[in-house]
Parts: sequence; C-alpha cells; structure tokens
Amino acid sequence: MFPLDCVCSQRTDQDQETTISDFHPLDHDDPLEGLTLVGANQHKARADIAGDVRKGLSDDPKWLPCLYFYDEAGSQLFEKICELPEYYPTRTERAILEKNADELVAHVDHHVDLVELGSGSATKTRLVVEALLRRHGKLRFIPIDISRSILEESSRALVEDYDDLEVFAVAGEYHDGLDYLKERGGPPRMILWLGSNVGNFSRPDAIHFLRRLHDSMRDVDRLLIGIDLRKDPAVLVAAYDDAEQITAAFNKNLLTRINRDLGGHFDLDAFTHEARWNEENGRVEMHLVSQRVQTVRIDGIDMAVDLAMSESIHTENSYKYSQAEIEALAAAANFDVECQWFDAQNRFSVNLWRPIS
Ligand code: AVI
Repeated sequence: MFPLDCVCSQRTDQDQETTISDFHPLDHDDPLEGLTLVGANQHKARADIAGDVRKGLSDDPKWLPCLYFYDEAGSQLFEKICELPEYYPTRTERAILEKNADELVAHVDHHVDLVELGSGSATKTRLVVEALLRRHGKLRFIPIDISRSILEESSRALVEDYDDLEVFAVAGEYHDGLDYLKERGGPPRMILWLGSNVGNFSRPDAIHFLRRLHDSMRDVDRLLIGIDLRKDPAVLVAAYDDAEQITAAFNKNLLTRINRDLGGHFDLDAFTHEARWNEENGRVEMHLVSQRVQTVRIDGIDMAVDLAMSESIHTENSYKYSQAEIEALAAAANFDVECQWFDAQNRFSVNLWRPIS
C-alpha cells in the first residue's frame, strides 16, 4: 500500500492517549444556556509533523501527509475551494440535502440526537438540523471535533440561531468521542459524516475507520455519510486543479508550513501543483512537482532533501466510489445501505447506513 494513504483529519492509530474516563465538562469563560462542552482537558496532539515529514521525504517516491494541509491558512483556502465553480462536491452534497432533508430524517422515525464528526457550522449541517427541528420540534446536536476553539465557536453560533436546539459539544478524536457517547447511552443517534471525507482514507483505512465507527454505534443508531462518485476524469481533475489556482495555493501551503514550523527552505516557485487521475486506484492524486534539480534544507529536523527535475512529492489522495464500491465498503464495515440519495447528474451520493449487529 502506498504510504501516502493517510487519514485527513483523524488518525486511525491505536495508541490512544485520551480515554472515555478522561471526558468531563470543560469550563468556558462565557457560559451560554443550551450549550455544554465536554472533553479531556489535557488532550495531547497525536500529530508528529517532524517525524512524518522526515519519513515522507526520505521515501521513494516522496510523499507528505495531507493531515498537515489544515493549519489556519490551509483551512481558509479549503473554505474557498468549497465555493469554486470546479469543485462540485460541496455544492452538490448541499443540493442533495436541500432537496431531501425532510425525507431523509423521516427515515429515522423516532426522536434522535444528531451527532456530527467535525464541527457543525456549515450550511449542510444546518439543513439537517432544520429538518429535524421541523419534524420533532426540539433537537440535541452533538458535534465532535478535535479543535476545541472551532467547536466552541460553531456551537455558540448554532445555539444562538435556533431556540429549540441544545448543543452538547464533545472536544476530542472522533472515535474517543463516540465511545464516550456510547457509554453515556441516551436516545438513538444519527451520525453525520459529510463532505466525502472518507475519500482521503485509503480503501483499507476507510474500512478500518468505519468498522471502529460501527463498533461505537448501537443497533438503533444510523450513519449519514456523503461519498463522492467516480465520474469523467476531466471533471475530477478540474475539481482539483482550478483556474484560479486556489487548490495550487492549498497544496503549496504544505511547503509554507514546513518552512515555518520546521525551519524549511522550500522555494514555492520551484514547484508546480498537479492533479492526476489514477484510474486503477480510483483516486485523484495531488502532487508538488519540482521544477529544477534542487536540494532543500529543513533545519529543524536537520535534513537535506534532494529533488530531481520533475520529481514529485505526492501530497493527497481523494478516492472516488462507484455504486458497487459503496456497497462493498458498507458491507466490509458491517453496515447495510438503508437508503441513498443522488443529484441529477450522479456526481455525489448521500447514504444512510444501518449497523449490522
Ligand atoms: C477534505 N477532502 C474531502 C477534500 C477532497 O476533496 O478530497 C480535500 C481537498 N483537496 C483538494 N481539494 C479538496
């Protein structure tokens, strides 16, 4: 398996440092009615940028983990990507939810708590929140996010915007948060995992992640997962190589981050961004391609990286799924596909999965 097959926002490592017994209410300066924040006070970051960069840039072919795209500048660039005309996934998933949110929540007949992997500030989350509020009058929303500040900010905005919404925000890794919720019990849950984030996992890692998700769910819980579909490679490549070069800036930001955090000396102009469709593996790959023969020092890890002319650093995979691959993924992770919704052009899918016991 290619080593780049990284997880994007969450790692699948087994070396847990936060356990469910570490979760407790967190103090916050400005308490707000309807908002509770729980988490582990001393969450240790598991990312090891120095070790990962050393490993990836010593390998042949070279690679860097996409996990490190999302510093402040990278997250802002990603927000811009989501609104680009070429980047269809965000608006297509949003359109599917706009059209089907009421039908979708009607599938889970009883009252549910809505859980989201990631912080639910985006319009897509709000579409599901509003549909559940229309159906049941009241709702408890439980976002799980590793970043306490983002979690708090988006939770406050939701509580302020919806009178009948209670937010119980969990600061932590997805699996830790879900294990904690399982132990707490409570009403059935609908878990949202949107944005085709599953696409940034290798196919085996996606199964592994979803199996762990399955194990933290009860029979009554449901998973609502957005998955991007295989399609015309020209459409796919354009989505990851836009005319405005925002995706190029997002990709190169990885080098900026290494320069800043590890004392690197990458010259951004000496690399070009490339998006490639890999038919065999069913994935769009992002690369940074060296425009000259060069040696780049990274002082903080005492490393010199030799790059040949046109040599690439592979920075991200975004896997796309066929209908058969979605069904196989669900089955491999012990889920039944209960229902699916697509856009008219069959670009994207929103899937409701039921855990098989
Ligand atoms: C976050 N993730 C689902 C995005 C994707 O489409 O794979 C990341 C991204 N990379 C470049 N554009 C968007």
